[in-house]
Amino acid sequence: MIRSLVTGAAGFLGSHLVDHLIKEGHEVIALDNEANGTWENLAQWSNHPRFKKVHQDILELSCDDPHFQNLDYVFHLAGLECPISSIKNPEVFFTTNVNGTIKVLQAARQSDLKKFIFASSSSIYGIASTPTLETDSTHPLTPSGLSKLQAEEAVFHWGELFSLPTVSLRIFNAYGPRNISRLFPGSVFSLWMKQKAEGMNLTIVGNGQHARDFVYCTDVSNALYIAAIEGNDGEAYNVGSGRSIELSELATLLKSKTTSLKDLKDEPIKVWADISKFQFDCNWQPRVPIESGVAFSLDVLEDWNKAPLWDTSKLDSFFSTWFEVYS
Ligand SMILES: NC(=O)c1ccc[n+]([C@@H]2O[C@H](COP(=O)([O-])OP(=O)(O)OC[C@H]3O[C@@H](n4cnc5c(N)ncnc54)[C@H](O)[C@@H]3O)[C@@H](O)[C@H]2O)c1
Repeated sequence: MIRSLVTGAAGFLGSHLVDHLIKEGHEVIALDNEANGTWENLAQWSNHPRFKKVHQDILELSCDDPHFQNLDYVFHLAGLECPISSIKNPEVFFTTNVNGTIKVLQAARQSDLKKFIFASSSSIYGIASTPTLETDSTHPLTPSGLSKLQAEEAVFHWGELFSLPTVSLRIFNAYGPRNISRLFPGSVFSLWMKQKAEGMNLTIVGNGQHARDFVYCTDVSNALYIAAIEGNDGEAYNVGSGRSIELSELATLLKSKTTSLKDLKDEPIKVWADISKFQFDCNWQPRVPIESGVAFSLDVLEDWNKAPLWDTSKLDSFFSTWFEVYS
């Protein structure tokens, strides 16, 4: 029996990964403290014999935590990401993302792992040329991105020091069902799905011509799984859809009108992953086009009823932090 542990398992991507691993026949230890996720995302497995739920803060892990013994794979997805909140309150991002990653790495050393898989982020690139390659320079715009970059470096460092096979996936804009953020406004997709569920206009920053690389959640969970098996030790791979679409186009797919908010200057205009390295090394392909991914999400629009609402006035006040540093 293959034994995998997933940190951040109750979150958006973590719960899709657990679905994937259980279907692949793994025994799965799902670890989370519900800081932003919820065990409701994994209710479908609660009585499954190969599923075990562990309510645990990664910051309180000890090196000899028994859940990290006799594992084949550790998928480390627990973390916090919010560019704007991290400008106001950087420490919590470094504590969770960097110190938390080191806690997980230390606990993972108890097992003779086949692979330690880290969920890194496109935010480590900052404003990059597009499509962005893994070899392009990293220059995060906010403490949130910097903490993900430092966590990725820690993963590779531990890998070299302790002969731990590692791989890091630099995930672009993941979206789909369960993309609900409770702590922060979250991604544009999660924000918009709640606004749509409330029958409101979608708040769009600037003229709608900012473009992002939206990659569907099951393509990401499949990427994490394939990276575990096929990923080359010590490598970072971009995970995107291979395409970048303007936010105005996403609003059209969501069949919604928009309300403009002040432009966030110094944000990247276009985010777009070059995914050829991952395609070549691991034979991974994104399979869900944005039109289908949006349609699948709209099918479960009522799930966003439970998400917190960020309306124009709350967002104006939230974004003011950005204008304090980038004006
Ligand atoms: N969603 C994206 O577009 C995207 C893009 C790039 C990178 N990532 C990375 O992928 C990972 C998962 O992202 P997500 O979108 O599913 O976010 P998420 O917030 O839904 O999931 C993260 C999970 O980590 C848990 N967590 C946070 N702090 C913890 C702690 N101290 N101890 C235990 N658990 C803790 C949260 O409760 C949550 O369930 C994150 O590391 C994120 O940085 C996501």
